[in-house]
Amino acid sequence: MKKIAHQHDLLCGLDIGTTKIVTLIAEPVGDNEIQLLGLGCVPSRGLRRGVVINLEQTTADIEASVREAEENAQVSIHSVWAGIAGEHIKSFNSRGVIPISKIRSDPTGEVTQTDVDRVVEAARAIALPMDRRVLHVLPQEFIVDAERGIRAPVGMAGVRLEADVHIVTGAIASAQNIITCCKRAGLSVVDLVLEPLASAASVLTRDERELGVILLDFGGGTTDMAVFHNGAIRHTAVIAYGGDYITRDIAMGLRTPVDSAERIKIEHGAAHQRAIGRNEFLPIPGVGGREPREMSRSMLVSIIGPRVEEIFIAARDEITKSRIAEYIGAGVVVTGGGASMPGVLELAEEIFALPVRIGAPQELLPGDPLGLDPKFSTAVGLVKHAAEKYGNGDRMHSDGDNWVGRTSSKVKDWFQGII
Ligand SMILES: Nc1ncnc2c1ncn2[C@@H]1O[C@H](COP(=O)(O)OP(=O)(O)OP(=O)(O)O)[C@@H](O)[C@H]1O
Ligand SMILES: [Mg+2]
Repeated sequence: MKKIAHQHDLLCGLDIGTTKIVTLIAEPVGDNEIQLLGLGCVPSRGLRRGVVINLEQTTADIEASVREAEENAQVSIHSVWAGIAGEHIKSFNSRGVIPISKIRSDPTGEVTQTDVDRVVEAARAIALPMDRRVLHVLPQEFIVDAERGIRAPVGMAGVRLEADVHIVTGAIASAQNIITCCKRAGLSVVDLVLEPLASAASVLTRDERELGVILLDFGGGTTDMAVFHNGAIRHTAVIAYGGDYITRDIAMGLRTPVDSAERIKIEHGAAHQRAIGRNEFLPIPGVGGREPREMSRSMLVSIIGPRVEEIFIAARDEITKSRIAEYIGAGVVVTGGGASMPGVLELAEEIFALPVRIGAPQELLPGDPLGLDPKFSTAVGLVKHAAEKYGNGDRMHSDGDNWVGRTSSKVKDWFQGII
């Protein structure tokens, strides 16, 4: 395979989704910008609801996806930034407090980078069950004495430094399974990144993150949420249903095989009656030698609509439960494959009673196949996240096995990324 001049500069995002595995190879250009070199996208057969349940199958699918991207880009890759998701992800907010280091006999001190690292470390010092590990520690704001809402506290004078952080944890087994599949496919994992955070990196604007926004990644296996306010992450959650759940319901409702239900959903499905015309009809293939039938599109919508509604209501309940509704100034952004369904926007507006838009990655190249397709948000976000960290040496080594221990450098990077 042809080697390009700066092979070591390549960034590769691997989105191991429930329905598809996407490999995106890119090259960093300029300030946090990336140029797409190659794309691989193959069906995923070894996951359920966002987690690997069949190592062999997933390894084979990763290999196929990576090979496609490598052939496309005419390069070979050895390490990836992989996404992680699933119901096992649990997140919460925490606070750390430390006295600020003093200079000589001065009663007040001055915050140093070491203080910032120490206070974030203090905030993450929480007891976790043996089978869970911290994936991300994401600073929200710092407090110096009584002064709140500080984003860059270094250099400020005071006695006491506090940090509010959002901690994302995951099951060690699920994380390890991703790393194992990658290893068996000949790849090392530079880092594991929470998938909705990656999607957020590719579709949200800075203004939305400041004003307050709910990001919903409506995938095949799960619907992942991330809520931002004042430029920082406030809440993350996973709803254990996605598009596959709708497809199964269509298959049952129409007594048709799952693959044809999926096709019917993609070709004719809609989540809201307002998105379809009157008197539209579609052909339904019969099962077990039965004759094909015709049905009204409106009836299909009456199967799909309530399922999508359930998913959005679960997301709304999450917002109410976490008491963050008042922070959502910019509304809701829906992305992921499910966001391509007509009527999703209208239904989401009704359920959330907020402005809604469909989010998709910007084109990385004019006319590229990823741009403007919501199902590629996570893959593009993984590479963007990698590009943000480009330059601090993370691409040069890979230590997937040690991902747990390297949070403190990640803390700075993520925080720099959001302010
Ligand atoms: N045009 C469309 N209309 C309706 N549904 C669609 C359309 N395009 C994709 N989908 C649905 O989107 C889902 C796949 O979304 P996506 O590719 O984001 O999932 P994934 O990343 O593989 O899964 P997950 O993130 O849950 O692990 C499938 O259920 C698919 O049927
Ligand atoms: Mg996904």
